[in-house]
This record gives sequence, structure tokens and C-alpha cells, in this order.
Amino acid sequence: MGGTLFDGLFDGLFDGLLDGPATKCSTDQRQSERSMGGDVTVRVCTAADLDLVLGAATKDVTRRHHRERWDMQTAGQAIYLVAWRGDEPVGRGTVLRTSKYDSVVEAFGPVWEINALEAFNQGQGIGTRLIAGAEAVARGVGSKTIGIAVGVDNDGARRLYERLGYEDWGGGHVVDEWSERDEHGTPTTTHRDLCRYLMKNLTGRPLTSGSRVP
Ligand SMILES: CC(C)(COP(=O)(O)OP(=O)(O)OC[C@H]1O[C@@H](n2cnc3c(N)ncnc32)[C@H](O)[C@@H]1OP(=O)(O)O)[C@@H](O)C(=O)NCCC(=O)NCCS
Repeated sequence: MGGTLFDGLFDGLFDGLLDGPATKCSTDQRQSERSMGGDVTVRVCTAADLDLVLGAATKDVTRRHHRERWDMQTAGQAIYLVAWRGDEPVGRGTVLRTSKYDSVVEAFGPVWEINALEAFNQGQGIGTRLIAGAEAVARGVGSKTIGIAVGVDNDGARRLYERLGYEDWGGGHVVDEWSERDEHGTPTTTHRDLCRYLMKNLTGRPLTSGSRVP
């Protein structure tokens, strides 16, 4: 079903990188790894995965989100990452092929960007694994940078991103405009969230050093 512009591009990219532990370990180790997300795998959503996430979703709004993100992937605009614990979807995030924000694109070009990141259970390392997956996607296409917008009042998420090496891009706030939609895809409510914008240089250099060409 529905090939994408990215077909084959990420084959094997996640092998061994994001898989949970395959070796035997004690209950204590397992609990500790669980809290670090060690039993979580992250992969690019496939048609079979889409059926699973749609089946597991309990709300229409969640099902609409999955379909919308799948359509973006099929259209070549994004990569849709889903985090799994066994057969259970435990998180999701979209990696946009280019930033949503004009000011970012003007300064950095078409930066790959993490969007709509969510861990269905928080504080278990799922977000950290999704971010690692998004960075693997960006590296896989040769990008030197990746960005993310975070609400000005979302201190917990910002702390996580900074711990993972993201830093303020230096160009001021951005406004994340997004709409809630009804079952026909018609926007019902439009949100405009004031956000900080953070970027990471994936080559390990500081953001200011030679990373302005993605
Ligand atoms: C932000 C989010 C994706 C992080 O994923 P996560 O799986 O909870 O994060 P991890 O377990 O990998 O890392 C834990 C860190 O996440 C951050 N965090 C943010 N919100 C948190 C929450 N509600 N509970 C626990 N940790 C949270 C903290 O920095 C925490 O580190 P700390 O223990 O030093 O405080 C997740 O908390 C989430 O879905 N939040 C709601 C939606 C959201 O805000 N998305 C981000 C949009 S930019």
C-alpha cells in the first residue's frame, strides 16, 4: 500500500540502534531499563503499523492524527515515527522534512524538524527514544541539524531537549499554529502557541559553528 518518497531510505537505519535489550536480565534490571525506555523500540510507521495504531487508539482525535501523519509521510513531507513496547504503541512523533516556521527556514534553510512529539506514558524514556529516532532520520538524509519548537510554558519538555543537546537557535520565538479538525478534516479550533525554538547540531559541533547550512 501507498509507497512513499522515502521507501527503502530508512531500511535498517534503526537496526540495533533503538531496539530494546535482547539479553536476559534480572527483574531489577528490567524495571530500571523500562524506566529508561530500554524496552521501547522506535520505527518508521508502516501500513501494517498504521492498522495497529488505529486499532489501539481510543479517541477519534488520535485516529485522525495518525491518519494525517501517515498521509504526510505518504506525500513525502514527513517521517512518522511510532514508539512500541512489544505490540503496544506507546508514543509518536513526526519528523517534518522542512521547518514549519518561515523565520527558521530563512535563517537555516529547510531544517528537519521534530513535531507533535508525545509519550503516551510520560517519564519512562519514550520521548528520549523518539528523539533519538528523529535524529537518526535526519542523519540518514545527511542533515547536519534538527529543530524543535517547544511551548514557552512547557518547561519539562524544554529541560529534556536541552539535556539531549538542543539549544536556543538565537532567532527569537516562533508561533506554532495548528488546528483541531472534525471528522471531515475541517478545522474547528485554531491554536497559536508561542514557542521557543531549539536546534541541535548533529555533527557534535556547537550550533553556531558551521551548522547554518543544514
Ligand atoms: C515531552 C515528552 C514527549 C517527553 O517524553 P517522556 O517520555 O515523558 O520523556 P523521558 O521519559 O524520555 O524523559 C523525562 C524527561 O522528560 C521531561 N518531561 C516533560 N514532561 C514530563 C512529564 N509530564 N512527566 C515526566 N517527564 C516529563 C522532563 O525533562 C523529564 O526529565 P526530568 O526527569 O529530568 O524532569 C512527554 O512528556 C509528553 O508527551 N508530554 C506531553 C506532550 C508534550 O508536551 N510534547 C512536547 C511538545 S514540544
